[in-house]
Amino acid sequence: MRDLLISPSILSADFARLGEEVRAIDAAGADWIHVDVMDGHFVPNLTIGPAVVKALRPHSTKPFDVHLMVSPVDAWLAPFAEAGADIITVHPEAGAHVHRTVQAIKALGKRAGVSLNPGTPAKMLDYLIDEVDLVLVMSVNPGFGGQSFIASQLRKVEAVRKMIDKSGRDIRLEVDGGVNPETARLCAEAGADVLVAGSAAFSGGPGRYAANIAALRGA
Ligand code: DX5
Ligand code: ZN
Repeated sequence: MRDLLISPSILSADFARLGEEVRAIDAAGADWIHVDVMDGHFVPNLTIGPAVVKALRPHSTKPFDVHLMVSPVDAWLAPFAEAGADIITVHPEAGAHVHRTVQAIKALGKRAGVSLNPGTPAKMLDYLIDEVDLVLVMSVNPGFGGQSFIASQLRKVEAVRKMIDKSGRDIRLEVDGGVNPETARLCAEAGADVLVAGSAAFSGGPGRYAANIAALRGA
């Protein structure tokens, strides 16, 4: 198993001081910076656009892990790629042709991720696993930080781990939603190698970020 990476979600950061927050979480040991993009249509919340990603880009050299919860998604791939995304993850339900969307992300020179909602089966990946660089298993229904971990998703993480290993490809397996030091351990045991954490990473303010990340990594 590869090193466990921590990707703090800036959805739980102080939006009035986002640049400082990204610098602080980077310095505290974040491996990636997770950016939750919500459109008020695919999910019932409205967050960050490409202009914000562009403004944050000079604040960290860590990979920007951009999670698009936007439908239709295709028109937003190039703007986020140009703004500085390194990994672009989409939901299969967010466009008519997810295979084509994955190819479009790769044609932009970015790593492509596919995200599975709690109700979406691992089987969705059958004909995508040879194309993707990352699979994101949602352990909450997307839209908000601070929700409780849905334990049934651990079985999906195990199933996706098997698919990835069978493929022999270099694919990261990320879990997003309700990840805290306890659920982090369950995710890692099920085969995840990237953990997104919003509230668990940003709770307590900048003085706590390094300890928060260490506690998650300790899983
Ligand atoms: C939910 C987002 C998550 C969320 C995680 O739609 O995709 O990234 O911010 O927040 P926590 O870790 O607080 O559940
Ligand atoms: Zn996310």
